[in-house]
Amino acid sequence: MITIAIDGHSSCGKSTMAKDLAREIGYIYIDSGAMYRCCTLFCIEQGLINADGSVQADELERRMSEIHVSFQLNPETGRPDAYLNGRNVEQRIRTMEVSSHVSPVAALPFVRAAMTAQQQEMGRDGGIVMDGRDIGTAVFPNAELKIFVTASDEIRAQRRYDELIAKGEDADFNEVLANLRERDRIDSTRAVAPLRQAPDALVLDNSHMTIPEQKQWLIEQYHKLAD
Ligand code: DC
Repeated sequence: MITIAIDGHSSCGKSTMAKDLAREIGYIYIDSGAMYRCCTLFCIEQGLINADGSVQADELERRMSEIHVSFQLNPETGRPDAYLNGRNVEQRIRTMEVSSHVSPVAALPFVRAAMTAQQQEMGRDGGIVMDGRDIGTAVFPNAELKIFVTASDEIRAQRRYDELIAKGEDADFNEVLANLRERDRIDSTRAVAPLRQAPDALVLDNSHMTIPEQKQWLIEQYHKLAD
């Protein structure tokens, strides 16, 4: 069993691709972004985000051991839901509120160290598909298959907007686009494990691809390596 790392910009459909692939080949799927989102929800709920959006980093660092993230398969959706300290937070971590605070939290070195250690432990035996920003560069630099996914800003914002509307959230397209650009900027320029393409990653620009086309492409890449 191999290790598959899928990195890329926000809202480019990484998690849909990664989940579908994992289900198809019987691998475990881990959404590393959900782990950073859980840390962010913890900060929001514990009042560790200041009015100006900055994070009370010293306090969060002291309390990192109180954050336990896990995943459990939801039998209704067939997909894993994220749990924060035993509570299902799958819906809560996808809100705009969490999206707008997650990048500064994910940029903190002690947050990354804690999440990276957990991710490496989850993937110790291979047989895993993990998606995120630094999976092929920092978490599993020796992954056998690395994919870097991207698509144009507008197309990514439209996809995220449609997702929020479908969930009944009150979303504004321009706000979604601005949030996505800002997250990409912070994620790509942070000092620790920034979003970047691993030199040995295969690039997939899915701006004009359908979900079945992407799935097909990804399964082909997997079979080239694993057969
Ligand atoms: O994939 P996502 O949009 O759910 O990720 C949420 C945030 O978490 C994203 O803005 C950047 C951060 N993240 C990260 O820094 N490293 C990862 N491996 C995954 C996500």
